[in-house]
Amino acid sequence: MPTPGYDPLNPETLRDPYPAYALMREHAPVLWHDRMGCWVLSRYADCVAVLRDHDTFARDPRRVGEAIPEPSLSVQSLDPPELGPLRRLLMNAVHTCDLNGLAQRTRERSDALLSALATQTTFDVVEDFASPLSLDVICDLLGVDRPERGSFAEASDAIMRSMDAGLLPETAEPGRRARQQLSALVASWFAESDAPGLLAEMRRGAPAAGVPETYVRNTARVLFQGGYSTMVAAIGNVTAQLMQYPGLLEHLSEPETRTTGVDELIRYDGPVQGTSRTATRAVTIGGTRIEAGQTVLVLHAAANHDPDQFPRPDELLLDRSPNPHLGFGWGPHACAGTLPAQIALHAVVEALAARPRLCAAGAFVRRRTATMRGWQHLPAAFIPAACTAPSGRHP
Ligand code: HEM
Repeated sequence: MPTPGYDPLNPETLRDPYPAYALMREHAPVLWHDRMGCWVLSRYADCVAVLRDHDTFARDPRRVGEAIPEPSLSVQSLDPPELGPLRRLLMNAVHTCDLNGLAQRTRERSDALLSALATQTTFDVVEDFASPLSLDVICDLLGVDRPERGSFAEASDAIMRSMDAGLLPETAEPGRRARQQLSALVASWFAESDAPGLLAEMRRGAPAAGVPETYVRNTARVLFQGGYSTMVAAIGNVTAQLMQYPGLLEHLSEPETRTTGVDELIRYDGPVQGTSRTATRAVTIGGTRIEAGQTVLVLHAAANHDPDQFPRPDELLLDRSPNPHLGFGWGPHACAGTLPAQIALHAVVEALAARPRLCAAGAFVRRRTATMRGWQHLPAAFIPAACTAPSGRHP
């Protein structure tokens, strides 16, 4: 039996990674990847087992003897038990935010953007809709002023690309510089503003929770950049699906289907393809021995199409329930922004469903990124005369 290769940046894999994931799941579910120097996991049960077992699989590099720069100490990098107070502070702040208001404002902002775009012959869904809307959503949630979008989006892009540093080492340094740039932005919020929102809530609660201010600052940066870039990719992916399969939008006009449907769209082709953890001790997964200090890459997106967990995994079933997908992660590091992200996507789908059909107006172009799956360009039009047959096939 040949061992399947896995090249996440191969154009064919970027276009449609699901056949490569299926091959790995079937023939090499615990695959050693020379170039990335890590084990790649593609079966649902193995992925969940790793994400749950934070004792054995560390996020915090200090647990395997590696240093971590201070700006990286955040909710994303700490592990239990040190993670506990910060994570609780963050989740309490999320639940204290005015999420109904966020839903309403996201819907209004989506309507306003789409109305303005409807006056143009063609536009780019990513640049003209997903990016400005995501920035508004994240500023609204955090309770901070909107930074100038161009330079922020550039810095966010550099950080997002540096998540692929295992494959493309040259992305690491621009990512580090962009993190510094965004840390300066966060420092300005701490100096100037205390507007209501998630950040003010965290700052207010931090002293009593015993959470150092640096952790709150670094977490604010992670929330802002991570929340923005995943929302841009998610809105792009969802809108592309709706443009390519117009029948979907009709089903999504039903409120109940919209709730299950948004989750299913994330399972089916979500933005976050994987995450990594490092083994703190030798352990066996699926009959393969992982040594202490070795890294495992958990492929959420491969797990989300595992036929042992999801009946008809390669079909988009908008009423799929239950749907325990890993698109928002799992375990102590599961996505802290799941609820606001679902609320925002719900509002976007609602806004799109209330308009004439959006159609492709040129070739769709994928981003050349492995960890985050998204579109670089999605030319679109509301005007039938400007529509073309969509390209950039979806699975
Ligand atoms: C549809 C949009 C989104 C998707 C698909 C998504 C997905 C994910 C996934 C898979 C993880 C787990 C990563 C891991 O285990 O290493 C994660 C973590 C995280 N997400 Fe999201 N996310 C989305 C939107 C957001 C938003 C809007 C925010 C901020 C408001 C956010 C904040 C975070 C944070 C802070 C973490 C780290 C949590 C921790 O490590 O404890 N996400 N996200």
